[in-house]
Amino acid sequence: MELLLIDKTHDEARQGEVFLPSGKQLSVPKKLFYIESYGCAMNFADSEVVASILSEHEYGASANAWEADLILINTCSIREKAEDKIRKRLTEIRQIKKEKPGLLVGILGCMAERLKGSLLEEDKLVDIVVGPDAYRTLPILINEADTGQKGVNVMLSRDETYADIAPIRLNSNGVNAFVSIMRGCNNMCSFCVVPFTRGRERSRSVESILMECENLFYDGYREVTLLGQNVDSYHFSHPQTGTVTSFAQLLEKVAMISPLLRVRFSTSHPKDITDEVLFTMKKYENICNYIHLPVQSGSSRVLQMMNRTYSREWYMAKVNRIREILPDCGLSTDMITGFCTETEAEHQESLSLMEYCKYDLAYMYYYSERPGTLAARRFTDDVPLEVKKRRLQEMINLHRIHSLQSMQRDIGKTFKVLVEGVSKKNSEELYGRNDQNKVVVFPQSNHKKGDYVWVNIHRCTAGTLIGSPVDK
Ligand code: SAM
Ligand code: SF4
Ligand code: F3S
Repeated sequence: MELLLIDKTHDEARQGEVFLPSGKQLSVPKKLFYIESYGCAMNFADSEVVASILSEHEYGASANAWEADLILINTCSIREKAEDKIRKRLTEIRQIKKEKPGLLVGILGCMAERLKGSLLEEDKLVDIVVGPDAYRTLPILINEADTGQKGVNVMLSRDETYADIAPIRLNSNGVNAFVSIMRGCNNMCSFCVVPFTRGRERSRSVESILMECENLFYDGYREVTLLGQNVDSYHFSHPQTGTVTSFAQLLEKVAMISPLLRVRFSTSHPKDITDEVLFTMKKYENICNYIHLPVQSGSSRVLQMMNRTYSREWYMAKVNRIREILPDCGLSTDMITGFCTETEAEHQESLSLMEYCKYDLAYMYYYSERPGTLAARRFTDDVPLEVKKRRLQEMINLHRIHSLQSMQRDIGKTFKVLVEGVSKKNSEELYGRNDQNKVVVFPQSNHKKGDYVWVNIHRCTAGTLIGSPVDK
């Protein structure tokens, strides 16, 4: 069956004014669904898989929650605040349900997995609860919910990768796309809920990844980001030939689709990124020089408690190696302040590590204890909230200096920019990103979305490089 794509109003769709990309008219969809995603890029990619599964069953996607018959919230449990945000959103959805009693509400993703059936008892609003590995059963669960029963499936799987499902791109700009290459995580960092919500690590087949990337390229996309909680541990063994493909080999295969297709990847666990990956990045101009290398703490003692399996010195040596092989590589990180027992001196070690690495970008959080994790079971969450927050603010202040310095260093340089669209602030300007993932804004002239444009940088703000196109 062809995919059902709807970007029309409810009434239009109800009247059957629904067209396939091919222009062929389809019958009226069974229901209109609206899906909202929270959390990491993997959740956004999963929502595109869900949209595809539902479309295969003749449900139509709506871009408006008020128009939908089924509202799905793809949730995140990574920090308490992430869950609070979703609970707040559910109170808003309650208003919609008051006005539309037949509306079904489904909770997908990590919060569904963590809280399971208790979500149904806790919040009578919810009709369906589906964990990240059970999306194929969603049509059955919707049917159950239609008959007044609650639909729950939170079974985790050892082999589900949704490899055969062609995701429907939601809110796409037609240039960049996420491609999941693996699911789950085996790392068991002590603070992290992901191994419990996403299950064991498994890699998707090379063929299915390449096919998805090739199709994206032929549909006009110019950048793919290969996604996994730990992409560098990608490992696929062909079931018939036994041929094993590593992440570096996969990266090379994707890069070879076309020099016009940019390739990015996220996230790299420092312990797993190899020289082979770095040399593959060096070899292919279209593999972007940008690595997200979360460190979490600058103290070896805290890192050990976090079960990150590397020390401060080991991480620094890894950064040195990256800079040696890829001198102009952009580098970003994730940091946690106030992890169990972290002292003031250890916090200073985190700051000094940031001083050493001078990250272009950093995602910084204060520690949020997650029930069931190793840290919650073994350690006391003993750093007071105001101390965690104060340390976080100090870290943010320091990083602001580094990121501004990083932007200022680019003034006068010329970058190849992939155009992603028209600037929101000025319709006569375009925006895109350079190799190192920095946003670049420049006058439109005769360029358009999806073009590669060489841009010389004149000035910058804290988050944007501003320049003008040049011939190269
Ligand atoms: N797989 C990635 C890695 O190995 O670094 C990280 C994935 S996690 C979705 C994104 C970030 O959330 C982590 O790198 C960490 O900094 C942060 N995080 C995870 N659990 C946390 C917690 N309990 N409290 C605060 N931040 C947390
Ligand atoms: Fe969580 Fe660690 Fe896995 Fe990242 S590598 S998802 S931080 S357990
Ligand atoms: Fe959140 Fe789950 Fe991603 S906890 S960060 S949505 S893997």
